[in-house]
Amino acid sequence: MIQNKNILIGITGGIAAYKICALIRDFKKSGAEVKVVCTPNALNFVTKLTLQNLTQNNVFIEEFDIKDWKPEHISLSDWADIMLIAPATANTISKIAQGIADNLLTSIACAFSKKMIIAPAMNCKMWQNEGVKENIKKLETRGAEILEPETGFLACGYTGKGRLCSLEKIYNAVDEALNYSDKLKDQKVVVTAGGTIEDIDPVRYISNYSSGKMGLSIAKAAYDMGAQVVLITTKDFECPFKTVKVKSAIEMQNAIYEEFGNTNYLIMSAAVADYRVKNYSDQKLKKGNEETITLELVKNPDILAELCKNKTSQVVVGFCAESENLTENAKSKIEKKGCDYLVANDISRRDIGFNSNDNEVIILDKEGNINKFEKASKKVIARKILEWISTK
Ligand code: CTP
Repeated sequence: MIQNKNILIGITGGIAAYKICALIRDFKKSGAEVKVVCTPNALNFVTKLTLQNLTQNNVFIEEFDIKDWKPEHISLSDWADIMLIAPATANTISKIAQGIADNLLTSIACAFSKKMIIAPAMNCKMWQNEGVKENIKKLETRGAEILEPETGFLACGYTGKGRLCSLEKIYNAVDEALNYSDKLKDQKVVVTAGGTIEDIDPVRYISNYSSGKMGLSIAKAAYDMGAQVVLITTKDFECPFKTVKVKSAIEMQNAIYEEFGNTNYLIMSAAVADYRVKNYSDQKLKKGNEETITLELVKNPDILAELCKNKTSQVVVGFCAESENLTENAKSKIEKKGCDYLVANDISRRDIGFNSNDNEVIILDKEGNINKFEKASKKVIARKILEWISTK
């Protein structure tokens, strides 16, 4: 909901700056309060007077043009519910990524800890530049949402990827971010992701194909919804929230117990190995003359089932990956595990699940209600799961 929200728009020196005038009108029509901060170069493309008229506010440019006791970069970043930088040039993107604060816009970005949306626009060769790519990745890792530029005719005469994305896309991204931003405020959400790794010897292990993408999407969605997130994972994910890297089921169990006490939601999307090797060998196992060998395995603790037996107020969500009889198996699994919700997906389908960017799931609760979330990106499915469990 954009109404009554404070939107701070940072405009940098690119030809697409003129398009932002129409966007400001749309935000204002929806009832938002809008303030604009420009880099000095932005004013080569759009006038201060236009922006002042459209926002019905002062336009902020100079860092030391102080009217109040509080420095402008702090008061504006405190004021804003969201910061949108559009168009964002390669120069401003790179400065923000490196923590450089050499004008009012970059200083605000440096001090800003709420949701930031960045819509880059530049020449296609600049967009391909390795330095720019690294800086975009850095900003994403810190939680900024990047609205990738589109491919088309560029003002510099080139055709390629670099055009500012559509104003509709920017408007919707801001709307969605504001809509979701405090749905899980003050809630601690712990998510597990990836397949556990059970060592056999120093060079061999037993694991599974879980990519951890679903868990990562849930953790990111919870973060976007304002939660304090802890992601316990076997994968190397760089995230703007706390991540705890683990390997085996036992390590994962210990990490969960560390966090569980004051957790509001635990989402167990990790594929935990049911068994581990009974006798781990310190030395690499050598090939003998035997044609077959036997590896003895012992059962891992069922982390989810044990937690559910001892939990207090925590809402616990289990996952299950099934290759047949999805609904029936999910119904018996929620009972067996004792969790509040169970999300089930069909791993026999190649277009969803393991390693895919999409998923289609059913979600069950203890009372026997079942809901289906049709095939969509894991990001969308993640949001739907969190909304369902947090509004019931
Ligand atoms: N799980 C767990 N500890 C285990 C095995 C699984 O906490 N040792 C959790 C998973 O994180 C997941 C849920 O239990 O949330 C279901 O996992 P799944 O492997 O489908 O269930 P299992 O009980 O192992 O049943 P099966 O493998 O026989 O289908």
